[in-house]
Amino acid sequence: MLRHSNKPFGPLIVMVCAPMHVKLSPARMWATNTITAILDHGKSMDDVLADGHGFSAMEPRDRALARAIAGTVLRRLGQVDAVLATYLTKPLPAKAGLMRAILRCATAEILFLRSPAFAIVSEAVSLAASKGKTRAFRHLANAVLRKVATEGPERLENFALTENIPPWLRDSWTKAYGPECVEQAAAILAEDQPTDLTVLKKMLEWSKQLNGQVLGPQTLRIDAADRQSGDVTKWPGFSDGAWQVQDAAAALPALILNVQSGETVVDLCAAPGGKSAQLAASGAQVTAVERSQSRLERLDENMKRLGLNVQSVCADANEWAPKTPVDAVLVDAPCTATGIFRRHPDVLVLKNEKQVRDLADKQFAILTAATHMLRVGGRLVYCVCSAQVEEGEDIIARALKELPVRPVSIDKDNLPYGQEFVDGYSMRIPPGAWHETGGLDAFFMAVLTRQ
Ligand SMILES: C[S@@+](CC[C@H](N)C(=O)[O-])C[C@H]1O[C@@H](n2cnc3c(N)ncnc32)[C@H](O)[C@@H]1O
Repeated sequence: MLRHSNKPFGPLIVMVCAPMHVKLSPARMWATNTITAILDHGKSMDDVLADGHGFSAMEPRDRALARAIAGTVLRRLGQVDAVLATYLTKPLPAKAGLMRAILRCATAEILFLRSPAFAIVSEAVSLAASKGKTRAFRHLANAVLRKVATEGPERLENFALTENIPPWLRDSWTKAYGPECVEQAAAILAEDQPTDLTVLKKMLEWSKQLNGQVLGPQTLRIDAADRQSGDVTKWPGFSDGAWQVQDAAAALPALILNVQSGETVVDLCAAPGGKSAQLAASGAQVTAVERSQSRLERLDENMKRLGLNVQSVCADANEWAPKTPVDAVLVDAPCTATGIFRRHPDVLVLKNEKQVRDLADKQFAILTAATHMLRVGGRLVYCVCSAQVEEGEDIIARALKELPVRPVSIDKDNLPYGQEFVDGYSMRIPPGAWHETGGLDAFFMAVLTRQ
């Protein structure tokens, strides 16, 4: 949300030079440390949250503010940096430590969150003054952030939402899907996202209790404004094992595999088990193969909570094989995950073109291994939550030339939603899809059969 009203400063701003009088909020300190960890040290938000960094020790109100600030910096990074650059005559030196993050967090909060600007500037200056490396920059912080508070909203008008998507992704998405797609993706990126659930039991009951929008027999969308709390484990039905959090796009690969009760199915690269759960709930005999032991433990916990029977195996998909060929395989290949930028905006800064190139051979190798697990006539779905054609369309084009497989048309009538993305045997959900109705993760998926 844009905050265009400016508060006059006057005497209040003088107080920011007396840092000892200002109590530093844990939320703003956490956001500053998190933004430094992600933007300067390449950590993901999930890494930061897993490491703790004091997040769970905060009061719920502070946790909400901390996430809002860090999330807004990541969703609006291009615009935040562009506005800041108009006031910084030269870039901050590397020895400025957390200073860049202090400025980014305060700017994001002033421009986009509804907090009083004087308090934000005051705290940012105090935070700068409280640390050895940033102390020397406290006067600069005061001057720059006062400008951001008074002139920033107007300056912001010069910088389009598309600035928040890194240039390499803007280029790649424009080339693959056209310029509107980048604008739509940028619009989605700036918004709070709904939460999608795959409901495996008693849809009618839980859809009412959760006040969700029913997208399909098992897919429920909870509007961001209707969320009861950020902690999904406290929502009705979670402890009953009735549903799992899963984007509506991520639910589609298991649907197009169309497994029947009793079929033998291998879910390759399976943790944390979103797709294994769907397959097992259809009555299939599912073996979930995952390389990471800790992630496999999460899969086991999830299956236990959901009351589903899945055989889990800790193994590399390239080395493991079933004892006998199976009816179906789902390959959710490791990818750059650029398609999940709506809820994980850190992917936009953490991923690059080299990673896209480096993954292609790994993805093709896993797909090759998967085809050898299938009986003749067995079905396979290959999918990636990447918006990059190199990880989706290009892998399948190569498979059709080099592997003993042929494509199978997707039956649109079997899909509860998303028919508009079906193109023969594949589905491409581009970034920016459903931009007017809450968004959908970008995904690629294709159905093949073993010859
Ligand atoms: C996109 S995630 C899978 C999400 C999962 N299918 C779901 O729906 O919940 C990719 C997973 O592949 C695993 N992985 C990566 N390379 C692998 C390999 N060679 N063999 C097995 N698992 C692998 C990663 O540890 C990660 O858990």
